[in-house]
Amino acid sequence: MSFPFFPAQASSSAEQVDHLFFGLLALSGLVLLIVFAPMIFFLFKYRRGMRVNRRLRSSSAVRLEIIWTAVSLLLSTGLFAWGAKVYLDLERPPAGGLEIHVIGKQWMWKAQHAEGNREINELHVPAGQTVRLILATEDVIHSFYLPAFRIKQDAVPGRYTQEWFLAKKPGTYHLFCAEYCGAKHSQMIGRIVVMPPAEYENWLKNGQPAESLARGGERLFRELDCSGCHMGSTVVRSPRLEGIYGKPAPLANGQFQVANEQYLRDSILLPQAQIAAGYEPLMPTFKGRVSEEELVQLIAYIKSLGDQRAP
Ligand code: CUA
Repeated sequence: MSFPFFPAQASSSAEQVDHLFFGLLALSGLVLLIVFAPMIFFLFKYRRGMRVNRRLRSSSAVRLEIIWTAVSLLLSTGLFAWGAKVYLDLERPPAGGLEIHVIGKQWMWKAQHAEGNREINELHVPAGQTVRLILATEDVIHSFYLPAFRIKQDAVPGRYTQEWFLAKKPGTYHLFCAEYCGAKHSQMIGRIVVMPPAEYENWLKNGQPAESLARGGERLFRELDCSGCHMGSTVVRSPRLEGIYGKPAPLANGQFQVANEQYLRDSILLPQAQIAAGYEPLMPTFKGRVSEEELVQLIAYIKSLGDQRAP
């Protein structure tokens, strides 16, 4: 479809978003017609000077009321179910696939690939593969908006948010910040480059990153002396980190918290908030000491530790 208001449907979920949009538009149009057509008709019919019966009708319209209540109830519940299905599909990324960290900052988008490649206001991704973006911001709320993919997600201070897509075919598409974030908000734009998978592999290699995210995290882990407590120590003062990612972590208050990116982030910045079961609240906060980009590296390192238990 080349209707200029609508960019190409470039992602796997674009079509269902458009269907929902046009469905809502059609229904709204129908309701508009049902209300306005009789209204205009009666405007003329009962105009001053027209010879019509103007006595109040006393007949009850119970049956009519039941019908229109039931019909609109059915329609709105149906719309709710339809919208909820599309929303859940958009909110829940399929397992596996590529993970790319994106950090918003006044006024640019910074992307970090697992291999260590970094880019600004550009994002290279392979076609035909699920890509999960993990969003963070260094200052205010930004919103990562890809119109051709029909997805938009806020980057919110203090937490990670995510959005996912599967780009259908190679091409270059618009990238916008869709949340007013200051004087140069309108310049916080870029492009997303979808490449055939082999080309993307080449692009990664040719970028010659100094070190992968996980490697950078390992270096920081030592520099910040996280390793002093969390590794190789004979005195067990802190929970081991190998294999922790993605599993439920037991907390001192008896609850469990899945060790996802948000949990790891909070454990570094707000270590007193959730204490691991069986440990003293000894860990200092690293708030202000590590940047958003360093956090991404540290988390990538912890994720890379997998289940390899040290002897
Ligand atoms: Cu960032 Cu608007």
